[in-house]
Amino acid sequence: MSKQRLYIQEVATRDGFQNEAVFVDTDAKVALINELSECGYAKIEVTSFTSPRAIPALKDAEAVMHRIVRKEGVVYTVLVPNIRGAERALSCSVDEVNLVMSVSESHNRRNLRMTREDSFAQLREVIGVVRQSPVAINVSLSTAMGCPMEGDVPAAEVLGWMQRFADLGVHGVTLCDTTGMAYPSQVKALSTMARERFAALELTLHFHNTRGLALANTLAALSAGVDRFDSSLGGLGGCPYAPGATGNVCTEELVHMLELEGFDTGVDLEGILTAASQLPGLIGHDVPSQLLKAGRRLDLHGMPECDGMPKQRAFA
Ligand code: COA
Ligand code: ZN
Repeated sequence: MSKQRLYIQEVATRDGFQNEAVFVDTDAKVALINELSECGYAKIEVTSFTSPRAIPALKDAEAVMHRIVRKEGVVYTVLVPNIRGAERALSCSVDEVNLVMSVSESHNRRNLRMTREDSFAQLREVIGVVRQSPVAINVSLSTAMGCPMEGDVPAAEVLGWMQRFADLGVHGVTLCDTTGMAYPSQVKALSTMARERFAALELTLHFHNTRGLALANTLAALSAGVDRFDSSLGGLGGCPYAPGATGNVCTEELVHMLELEGFDTGVDLEGILTAASQLPGLIGHDVPSQLLKAGRRLDLHGMPECDGMPKQRAFA
């Protein structure tokens, strides 16, 4: 039986770098993205075309987008918050724009400094502009599984926003657990409803590992038939406008688990481990990835010499 194909979307250079205090040099960003392009991802979220004052770490978005070497078959997407961002993104011939708003009012005000209705009105305008081009449109719905200020977010609210964007003709929607508040049964229920109601939309799940539940939530989404996941190399990531937000689900840990479970992720685990090992040098600190420290399950170790046991007995 052939393995089920899953689609892995790397977000480290956007969701990861946006949260770092150090500015990762443009050359280093380009080199990392070029390396990741060879690793078998379905999609790479390269950068964001946001206000450089809001997200200084990604102020070099145009330069990065222009300089990367694009690999056939990889979709290069970028986060866009408004018309200005869409115009900048279109001038770089991106494959997809990823629009963003929050399902909860408080997080939307904090992150985007406007009401949800104002965000929606703006994004509707952005969609109108982008639909005149061949560029695909994805909408990321932040705080879809919990808001750090409001608590539980009703599934009906999430589905309602999905409907409004589906009506505008977007191609995909990402349900984001922005601050790691989701739990498996909730994920399964929401994913099932989203897939049933919006079968024509490309559905992505975006988990953060804030409370250690990201891999468990991934398995729950898989059991509901979801086949597309965002993840971040090294487990980098976090929204600078969400209190307590920490890393995304770690790509190498996600791929390691999914391959063990018999799925085809298309991703070269060895390649991404090599790429991940460079991250501490780029951002100046350790990364959350446990796999980077422990190695893969069958990366075996030599037998240590046993202390306190005479050598001749050990080999007898
Ligand atoms: N690209 C470049 N510059 C932009 C921009 C964009 N997409 N959008 C706004 N700006 C600039 C404006 O030109 C203006 O610059 P000026 O002060 O030099 O004239 C400044 O940013 C403020 O613009 P304004 O329209 O008043 O927006 P704002 O300050 O309310 O910012 C956002 C709104 C959404 C654009 C901004 O907060 C933002 O980019 N946030 C990033 C959100 C994000 O990515 N969060 C993490 C991911 S979930
Ligand atoms: Zn995120």
